[in-house]
Amino acid sequence: MCGIIGIVGRYPASPRLVAALKRLEYRGYDSAGIATLSNGELDRRRSEGKIANLESALLSAPLDGTVGIGHTRWATHGPPTTRNAHPHMHDGVAVVHNGIIENYTELRKSLSEKGFAFETDTDTETVPVLLSSLMKEGVSPQDAVRQALKLLRGAYALAILFESHDDMMIGARKGSPLVIGVGEGEMFLGSDALAISPYTKQVIYLEEGDWCVLTKASYTIYNEAGDEVTRPVQEVVTEEDEAGKGNYPHFMLKEIFEQPRTVKRTLDVYTHPAHQTLGLPRAAADQINLADVSSIYMVSCGTAHYATRVSEYWFEQLAGVPSKTDIASEFRYRRPALAKNSIAVFVSQSGETADTLAALRYCKEQGIKTVAIVNVQTSTIAREADVVLPTYAGPEIGVASTKAFTAQLVVLLAFAVAIAEAQGHLDEAEVAALSNDILTVNSAIEKALSLDDVIKKEVIHFEQAADAFYLGRGVYYPLALEGALKLKEISYIHAEGFASGELKHGPIALITAKTPVVFIAPFDDLFEKSLSNLQEVAARSGPVLLLSDEKGIAHAGSAPTRSIALPNTPEIIMPIVQTVALQLLAYHAAVALGTDVDQPRNLAKSVTVE
Ligand code: F6R
Repeated sequence: MCGIIGIVGRYPASPRLVAALKRLEYRGYDSAGIATLSNGELDRRRSEGKIANLESALLSAPLDGTVGIGHTRWATHGPPTTRNAHPHMHDGVAVVHNGIIENYTELRKSLSEKGFAFETDTDTETVPVLLSSLMKEGVSPQDAVRQALKLLRGAYALAILFESHDDMMIGARKGSPLVIGVGEGEMFLGSDALAISPYTKQVIYLEEGDWCVLTKASYTIYNEAGDEVTRPVQEVVTEEDEAGKGNYPHFMLKEIFEQPRTVKRTLDVYTHPAHQTLGLPRAAADQINLADVSSIYMVSCGTAHYATRVSEYWFEQLAGVPSKTDIASEFRYRRPALAKNSIAVFVSQSGETADTLAALRYCKEQGIKTVAIVNVQTSTIAREADVVLPTYAGPEIGVASTKAFTAQLVVLLAFAVAIAEAQGHLDEAEVAALSNDILTVNSAIEKALSLDDVIKKEVIHFEQAADAFYLGRGVYYPLALEGALKLKEISYIHAEGFASGELKHGPIALITAKTPVVFIAPFDDLFEKSLSNLQEVAARSGPVLLLSDEKGIAHAGSAPTRSIALPNTPEIIMPIVQTVALQLLAYHAAVALGTDVDQPRNLAKSVTVE
């Protein structure tokens, strides 16, 4: 989603704004722009497409000044043209915005009736026009912002500059994240701390409804009611090596290969240091009151949703606790009835996904205990949930989620073991044996990664394919959905996941010699059934790639057209190991097709609008 940067600084702003925009690229965007203030005058450069285009525009027409704002736009209202790119300017006011001004039509109409002209198709442009209309009535920039914010409906993170005010920037947030960076004799605004981390590690997370006035030397924060408030300054720790690509051609590949480390780092926090058994950190376990949990609702979007769907099997089979998963955008508007003593779990890499956040707020209103499994611990979802169970995947830059997913899986697994033990569903010895198996997962992932070259060759499976299907049973059904999502989002091949048992109820009509099918079927209790489904596809000339373990491949004989034999592992961790192969398969397919793997078209990370 859109990324924002703002600098009231001591050094030339333009190169710093561009560098920060590059750090925001991972959020997904389709145009970019910056504006600077120099000798009281505002000027801007904007361009369609990649930041490289903006850099070219700046090369031929540089911008002076040490104060500026910048933006990567993920188009919502109006196509991704230069004209619609931010910053939007009107009569001495420049604005960058992340979010959606939902009442923009109404505002635009009333401002147009007053004689104000609009140049773009965007909802954002109403903000600078509204501000300049208020300032025309003699109101100061600060009071204009105060009044304007009351008139805006929807979600926004804003950074605003005013002509003739060289030492001032105003920021505001509601529904979209915004952080202040406190530098030495300079101040910053950013959509996240990563964007401003080269300039300062001291950040303040604005709260819902907050707005702020920054100068080089000071910051003043107001709450929604307009009262001056203080918010804590926090030190951010970003590991530079994690934020860079290293020797890998893409962030996605680097992040896939980081998984032995990120999974271990996450599991360490959920492992009792003396007993080497899995569970939740003491404080979290006490707060949740594990023994009394009667049912679990899990709400999330996209890949995070598939993590919850895998874990549904674990909560039910290991812990015997009824669980239900939901897509956040549906849950929030369905306003479901929630059972007593249930808990609601929200899983999100970014911790900023608008629908997941709204679902969390709904559950809080209903008085249900809320638990957040998030990768960004300073995120809004982490701050608003009753209990936070962090994943330690580190910054995930590739738009397609990989290492965050496996980190979510291991936290959900530890959570299921913790509830199973607390409710007496597993005894001490069973927990110890299960933990022992689970703690081998990082070495099993290493082994799966060592098959990278083998997996890469299987990309031939998708050659010339317009459609592909992924099939699985049990816990491998949600993995089939995730495998298909990975393939479609980065290779643009149309891919769907189905439960293997559903094949005959419709999807089989789509099978032809040109539709590759990936069966995810390790050698477990359901293997024979999956093999029968595989035969049904093969009998209709569907080219089959069987993703299994060594035992499964040996049993399958010549039925599949192609196969990948992952190492035999304990059954409980096999979904995580299979995930790695699905990620590599999608990655190599995309590379073979020459797509923009880290920033696939139309996609955004951190989906802060509905
Ligand atoms: C897919 C992907 C998305 C996200 C989804 C939720 O590869 O990354 O489907 O999983 O947008 O995002 P978070 O986890 O940040 O709430």
